Amino acid sequence: MVYHQFPKDFLWGAATASAQIEGAADEDGKSVSVWDEFAKRPGATRNGQTPNIACDHYHRMEEDLNLMKNLGLRAYRFSIAWPRIIPEGVGAVNPKGLDFYARLVDGLLERNIAPLITLYHWDLPQVLEEKGGWRNRQTAYAFQDYTAAVVKKLGDRATLWATFNESPCFINLGYRTGIHAPGAKEPEKTIRQIYHHVMLAHGLAIQAIRANAKKKPSAGIVHCQNVPQPIFDSPEHVEATRKSFYKQGAWMLDPLFKGKYPEEEWRELGANVPDIQNGDMEIISQPMDYIGYNIYGASEFIHAKNGSGIAEPMYPRTEMGWAITPDIIYWYARFLHELYNPPIIYLTENGCAYPDDINDSGRVDDYARIEYISAHLKSAHRAVKEGIPLKGYFVWTLMDNFEWAFGYYRRFGIIFTNFETLQRIPKLSYEWYANVIKNNGL
Ligand code: FCB
Repeated sequence: MVYHQFPKDFLWGAATASAQIEGAADEDGKSVSVWDEFAKRPGATRNGQTPNIACDHYHRMEEDLNLMKNLGLRAYRFSIAWPRIIPEGVGAVNPKGLDFYARLVDGLLERNIAPLITLYHWDLPQVLEEKGGWRNRQTAYAFQDYTAAVVKKLGDRATLWATFNESPCFINLGYRTGIHAPGAKEPEKTIRQIYHHVMLAHGLAIQAIRANAKKKPSAGIVHCQNVPQPIFDSPEHVEATRKSFYKQGAWMLDPLFKGKYPEEEWRELGANVPDIQNGDMEIISQPMDYIGYNIYGASEFIHAKNGSGIAEPMYPRTEMGWAITPDIIYWYARFLHELYNPPIIYLTENGCAYPDDINDSGRVDDYARIEYISAHLKSAHRAVKEGIPLKGYFVWTLMDNFEWAFGYYRRFGIIFTNFETLQRIPKLSYEWYANVIKNNGL
């Protein structure tokens, strides 16, 4: 019996990222990415693990495509490795790099799966980092050229485009705390400048997508922010939470949607505000067709009178230590809708890590993951039912992969990857998700 029926055109998807699954780190002309470089640093990743081989998806694409087909996916979100396309960061385009993604896109379309292409999921060419990376305004223009090269090749077939994956995440972890590539620890002023350059790059890329796509594109960004959840579903608590949501997201959402920085935060930053050039804000606020949000759990709980609090240690959590708060899916979609009214919202990542293993019967029975996804989908359903334009769900992730600084020590997949043999074993959650997609609900 299906109690939570989704609309017919709901985009059931799964997501991955180039550096996390492809491997083939130096094949067919690909240059070194910041993650290849960072992983070589002693202590940067668990046990010194690297993305060199990852899931070897580069060589196992057909097998993976068939797994997607059997799952019944309607959309597959993957990212393109910039170092494969323009190995020097700027200049010559590498046809072999483009061919790989063209084969992937064709393979998806043959199987009736819509590609959602993320142009930047954190693997900057190392050569560009050496010229300042995102601290350097020129990187934004290099990103525009790279985007144009990709869209010229694939924009006659692929229509769903995302510029950046989780900018706040790679900016803060990569340039502020240094626990992600490129492992820098920059002062506030530089961080804000990086934000500005990334947003500029986003706007320039949206322009490049529209200018080069032969088939009408749907272009947006995949975003994340701290997401607060109200303790009570009553007007005063909801209002307090909406304010908190706004405050935590406005640094990027105001420029993207309104073409201006939030005044209060700008004032508070004093001398740390970024340098802006004439015309930047118009470029940054190019209209988007949708916005994607990656949500794993609420960052805090809000009470109108008591203020905010985070989940106490005994709260149920995934192996990442992230609190399991399914209602957040409804709330983030609602606040986003109320504050910025984007035409379409996609939940572009949601999922959980657990220490999965193969049991004596050769299966991976990941009941906890089923429970997690099921609860989050029901919360998504509430948003859909209330008329919020939440139009797709992408599980993170298709298969266990290189989880950044955690190396291969976190398993988020609905397919188990044996990292010694590279064998893929669909988990119970894969079978369960296939059934959800088939029924268009749960
Ligand atoms: C997100 C990233 C994704 C993956 C998940 C667990 O922040 O976008 O690549 O690492 O977290």
